[in-house]
Amino acid sequence: MVKNREQFRSTLGFIFASSGSAIGLGNIWRFPYLAGTNGGGAFVLIYAILMLTIGASLLLVEFVIGKNSHANTVKSYGNINKRFRYIGYLNIFTSFIILSFYSVVGGWTIYFLFKSITGVLISIPGDEITTVFQSFTASSLSPLIYTFIFLALNIYIVAKGIALGIEKYNEFLMPLLFLIILILLVRSITLPGAIDGIIWYLKPDFSKISSGIIVAAFGQVFFSLSVGLSTMVVYGSYLSRNENLPRASALVALFDFLISVMAGLVIFPAVFSFAMKPSEGPGLVFITLPQVFSMLPFGYFFLVLFFILLVLAALSSSISMMEVAITYFIETYNIRRVKISIIYGFIVFLLAIPASLSFGILNGWKIFGMQLFDLFDYFSANVSLPFSALACAILVGWFWNKEKIKAVITNGNKNNNHFFTYWFLIVKYLIPPIITVIWLNAIGII
Ligand code: PHE
Repeated sequence: MVKNREQFRSTLGFIFASSGSAIGLGNIWRFPYLAGTNGGGAFVLIYAILMLTIGASLLLVEFVIGKNSHANTVKSYGNINKRFRYIGYLNIFTSFIILSFYSVVGGWTIYFLFKSITGVLISIPGDEITTVFQSFTASSLSPLIYTFIFLALNIYIVAKGIALGIEKYNEFLMPLLFLIILILLVRSITLPGAIDGIIWYLKPDFSKISSGIIVAAFGQVFFSLSVGLSTMVVYGSYLSRNENLPRASALVALFDFLISVMAGLVIFPAVFSFAMKPSEGPGLVFITLPQVFSMLPFGYFFLVLFFILLVLAALSSSISMMEVAITYFIETYNIRRVKISIIYGFIVFLLAIPASLSFGILNGWKIFGMQLFDLFDYFSANVSLPFSALACAILVGWFWNKEKIKAVITNGNKNNNHFFTYWFLIVKYLIPPIITVIWLNAIGII
């Protein structure tokens, strides 16, 4: 155990921080556009099932690994089994990739927030917003400036540390986020014709289910819960000895799921009410929502509120990605937190440059048939996160002492033994084959 390590100050602070990591662009930007392009209700149903079974169990897997060793990601795995420390390295690498493209989208959210505050966005005629979005994302310099601002905010929060940075920020942010999304939801579902959107979004059309939808839903579970990147290992490692981990995992998975469903209920009723396409892709929240809001009374107010929501949600997640690497560097090389936060933020920015340019001048530059941004997204959500999650499940199910795990989870409380038995069976026998099959499908082997 590393000496004088920081800790979360309260259980609530920990739950808010983990929910903050989970709830992000993944819920408000990625989930709705995936649901939009993958047939609505059928996608949501598969997502719900995978999320509340496999997703929630994996969250607990990561918390246990972290809480057991109170150390950075590489050490947390290495302490249990030396060979598994490579998962830690893979996670640091992947967090670097995800943070780079996430910051690009984070930059877009800041740009759109500015444009909505100054009233520019609301005054653009509806059908021109697509052009505004496309020409902004395709330009070279402007998106990079906003990506830089986004990363600077990350550095600022992470440099302050766990209790005074991450915990404090999330404690204020999470309730605010919930409130904003609730206001927007009420507005959206009371629009005329909203019911068509609600039906499309929530009523599964079973004929639409395909392996592509399952792979997409599966990747989204990992991405949205922040599992497979050691984020939750690292947050778990900052816990005191007797936290109730099963409860924390259930709550975080539930909040995360709820916010995704709510985000869909903000977007689709509005999209249908104004007869727009739900299958817009990554531009969905950026293009469709401003058009919708511009046609509503008090649209300005709702639009600003929406982009505040996006920026805040993005930040609470990106700081957790950053923390995966920062904790490792601090503890391994004894570097000061402030210094490494700045250096790391800057390196991420360098990788964000080609990711951002792939919407513009690097558009034709394809690797495995994908633009760089899409490749980063696909590699992380569908390849690396599931792979590490699989390795974590195997580590916990097959390479660790069962009694030890039980002690970390139950804190010696016998009431929790039943729960432990079921969870352990799921982690040991059910999760590994399921992830393997879907993973092999995602990388094109079966
Ligand atoms: N869960 C975050 C979101 O939904 C993204 C994320 C992925 C954060 C992996 C940390 C680790 O936006």
